[in-house]
Amino acid sequence: PSILILNGPNLNLLGTRQPEVYGATTLKDIEQMCDAAAKDLGLSIAFEQSNHEGTLIDQIHAAKSSHAGIILNAGAYTHTSIALMDAIASVELPVVEVHLSNIHARETFRHTSYIAPVALGQICGFGSKGYVLALEALAERLIST
Ligand code: DQA
Repeated sequence: PSILILNGPNLNLLGTRQPEVYGATTLKDIEQMCDAAAKDLGLSIAFEQSNHEGTLIDQIHAAKSSHAGIILNAGAYTHTSIALMDAIASVELPVVEVHLSNIHARETFRHTSYIAPVALGQICGFGSKGYVLALEALAERLIST
């Protein structure tokens, strides 16, 4: 099975962006970690990033025909985007929500997620490892169904 790993706004800046919050790992490093983990799990991945809400929505729609599940770090759109929530609800693919930081331990505006109600589950606070945990969760789900 193929998994779309979709990253939202500002995540292209990982490594230099607020390293005290998000760590020194770059998005390229995370892609390499995911590639290795996916191989071990018998999954293939497509790894994408966009700063544009509409592009993320188009990528979620397109995933329906080419992927078995989605791992989504929607960045700040997590806390604002009903449109992303609707897109996920529309495609009926299993989605795992990921955040590097523990959004529940930060500003109150980060405590709300529009993604969580339409996701299988949420992984946050474990840095880049969260993406690997999400791959493991999806692999288990896709094998058992
Ligand atoms: C984030 C958390 C969001 O609140 C923030 O806007 C991000 C990154 C994370 O991975 O911790 O851009 O999704």
